[in-house]
Amino acid sequence: MAPPAACTITPGSLDDLPRVMPLVASVGWPHRAEDVAPALALGKIWRAMDPDTGDLLGIAVWWPMEPNAGRVGLVIVSPDAQGHGIGRALMDRVLDDTGPRSLKLLATKEGQPLYEKLGFKSVGRSQKHQGVFEGTPKPHPTVARAGIEDLAAIARIDERVLGVNRGDIPRHLFETGEVNVLHKDGEISGFAILRPFGKGYVLGPLVAESEGDALALLHATVKPGLLRVDRFTEAEHLGERLNGLGLKGLEVTDIMVRGDWPAGDATLRAFAMASHAWG
Ligand SMILES: CC(C)(COP(=O)(O)OP(=O)(O)OC[C@H]1O[C@@H](n2cnc3c(N)ncnc32)[C@H](O)[C@@H]1OP(=O)(O)O)[C@@H](O)C(=O)NCCC(=O)NCCS
Repeated sequence: MAPPAACTITPGSLDDLPRVMPLVASVGWPHRAEDVAPALALGKIWRAMDPDTGDLLGIAVWWPMEPNAGRVGLVIVSPDAQGHGIGRALMDRVLDDTGPRSLKLLATKEGQPLYEKLGFKSVGRSQKHQGVFEGTPKPHPTVARAGIEDLAAIARIDERVLGVNRGDIPRHLFETGEVNVLHKDGEISGFAILRPFGKGYVLGPLVAESEGDALALLHATVKPGLLRVDRFTEAEHLGERLNGLGLKGLEVTDIMVRGDWPAGDATLRAFAMASHAWG
C-alpha cells in the first residue's frame, strides 16, 4: 500500500532520537531517552515524515532474531496524525523488510485492529505489574550475582527459552542491569535482570525452570522503589506474589504472532519479559 499522500516514509537511525522522544511522550509512554536509544541502535527503523515541515509523524521499529524471526515495537503515530493510514504504511514497510520472517509483538488496544488486518494472531497475554516496593531483597542459597563470565550461559538460556537468538540484546540487558543467576547441579538454570526504566526499574527477563525458582530469583533481585514487571499471565503464583509485594496488576496486553514462531525449549519458562518491544 502506498503511504498517505501527506507523508514520506524513509529509513531512520539513532540520530532520530531527539525527534522520537516527543513522539513517545505524545502517546504517554514512560520511556526515557536512555530506554529508547538502545531500541533504535539495535533495530531497523521506519519513519513517517511530513514532507513540508520535516516533522516526524510516526515510527515503527523491528529487531531481527534468528532463525528467520523478528520483533516489532515502538510503533507510534503522533495523535494529531492518527487515523490517516500512517500506522498501516509504516507496518507495510516493516513487512516488506521482514519478508518470510515470523514476527512477534505486544499489541496495545489501539494497535490490535491494525495488526489483526496484517495477519497477526493472539498467542498469549502479559500483564504489567507496577508499584512502589518497600521491602528489601531476600538472598537465596542458590541465587548469586552474575559476572561477565556468565553472559554466554545467560544468552544461551535466553535463546533456548524464546526459541530465537536476540543478537546483541542479551548483552545490552546484561550491561545495563543487575543480573542474578540461579544455579542447579553446578549449572546456571535461570536468571533475572533488573535495570533502570522510565521513572524506576523494570525486572525482566525472568527465566527459570519452575515457578518456585522464578520466585527465588524475584525475591533476590527486587530493590526498593518504583518497580515494574511485565508478567506472562500463565505465571499465576508470580502474579499473586507481585501483588503481595505492592506491584499491582494493571493493563493486560495481547502477545501477537504472524507466521510460525520457532518453538522454545519446554524445560524452561519465561516468567517476565525485558520489555514490550523485545519480549
Ligand atoms: C496504533 C497506531 C500506531 C495506529 O496508527 P494510525 O496511523 O492511527 O493507524 P492507521 O490510520 O494506519 O489505521 C490502521 C488500520 O487499523 C484500523 N483501525 C484503527 N483503529 C481501529 C479501531 N479502533 N477499530 C477497528 N479498526 C481500526 C484502520 O481502519 C486501519 O485499517 P485499514 O488500513 O484497513 O484502513 C496509533 O494509533 C498509535 O500510535 N497509538 C498509540 C501508540 C500505540 O498504541 N502503538 C501501538 C503499539 S503496539
